[in-house]
Amino acid sequence: MADRKATLQIDGQSIELPVLSGTAGYDVIDVRTLGKHGYFTFDPGFLATGSCESKITYIDGEKGILLHRGYPIDQLATQADYLEVCYMLLHGEAPNAQEYTKFQQTITNHTMVHQGLHNFFNGFRRDAHPMAMLCAVTGALSSFYHDDLDIHDEKQRLRSAYRLIAKMPTIAAMAYKFSIGQPFVYPKNELSYSENFLNMMFSVPAEDYKVNPVIAKAMDRIFTLHADHEQNASTSTVRLAGSSGANPYACIAAGVASLWGPAHGGANEACLRMLKEIGSVDNIPKYIDKAKDKDDPFRLMGFGHRVYKNFDPRATVMRDSAHEVLKELNISDPLLDVAMELERIALEDPYFVEKKLYPNVDFYSGIILKAIGIPTNMFTVIFALSRTVGWISHWHEMMGEANQKIGRPRQLYTGEAQRDFTPIKR
Ligand code: CMC
Repeated sequence: MADRKATLQIDGQSIELPVLSGTAGYDVIDVRTLGKHGYFTFDPGFLATGSCESKITYIDGEKGILLHRGYPIDQLATQADYLEVCYMLLHGEAPNAQEYTKFQQTITNHTMVHQGLHNFFNGFRRDAHPMAMLCAVTGALSSFYHDDLDIHDEKQRLRSAYRLIAKMPTIAAMAYKFSIGQPFVYPKNELSYSENFLNMMFSVPAEDYKVNPVIAKAMDRIFTLHADHEQNASTSTVRLAGSSGANPYACIAAGVASLWGPAHGGANEACLRMLKEIGSVDNIPKYIDKAKDKDDPFRLMGFGHRVYKNFDPRATVMRDSAHEVLKELNISDPLLDVAMELERIALEDPYFVEKKLYPNVDFYSGIILKAIGIPTNMFTVIFALSRTVGWISHWHEMMGEANQKIGRPRQLYTGEAQRDFTPIKR
């Protein structure tokens, strides 16, 4: 893998560094030995640093390509369902019919949570943000399922992965039900993954809830399109937490926390709030100007991406899905008119064109979720439950590596040089 070498000439030293090539993407310069020569690399925000080797997901941001285990995301979103994608992310290959059925049964059998976990919710205020509940309750899973977990045993790692994939929709729906003062709805085994989630969200003991198949398909697609995205902030957080040997539930709780920010998974919620703030199509030019103003912190939420400098391939599928859902539900919502017009104007504006700022997945997912009737503060929760499979697949991959090292970045220290301490005169 490393026939070529890069040579670094510095302070009279010539340092040879191996150049590694993957299956696709940029080659990387292996700088691991640099410390021995008295240097570290400096790359805040990881603009050009690979933090691990991975076989799970590949993104070409210039071309707008996203592959899971080699399969293009548009094919997966239109021809596979979420559980198939979960299986391939976790196990490396797409399942055959038998493997799929077995996997589906396993996940279905793990959807209920320990009854004791219900009590956790009572500790929250009614108006607690559901991401706060998800983060805390996911971490609390450690206390129920930690004892029989040997993280170095592949079978036990997979069991925790199945539990997490299965229980996240249950916990997410519980957070919603708690916030609106309705009783928790138990999972139903005869329903599909997305139908079950919708049922736990929207059914009440007083009457049956009939799942609309178009909505269930759109929900499944949202799950699929958020399933993984290689080494983003939350996945890197999960890997870093896991590198210390922490249990998977604690690692996923760390991922949930990292996802929450508006620059990452919180963008879908922030995007809907922004659309509300813009309010009407007439106000769009004012907000476009604000987004372009260097002295104004306002950004167009749901636009731009660290990796994609082209259309986010997830956004393309999500856009079609948004139109399908709006048509099915016959919805006319002024906010959606604002969104569509904002998209049109921003895509033509030289500022956005030159900086290659395209709508990302969160721009359209918010529109679909709103149309389905999901409250805005649940948007990031839905991202988190979808991404759990990505997080746990990366954690599983990392824990299976020989010589896995704790993550420990270096720094450029710019504080005070050593000085003597003078005690306070008392
Ligand atoms: N609106 C206005 N200007 C923007 C935007 C935006 N949404 N995004 C980037 N820019 C400008 C930014 O001001 C900078 O301009 P300049 O070069 O003149 O300083 C330039 O574009 C590059 O921006 P950056 O912040 O250096 O780029 P980044 O790669 O560090 O940030 C980002 C990527 C996603 C954090 C950013 O585009 C952003 O804040 N977008 C809005 C939040 C959002 O939608 N996030 C969801 C991302 S998709 C879901 C996920 O995968 O997590």
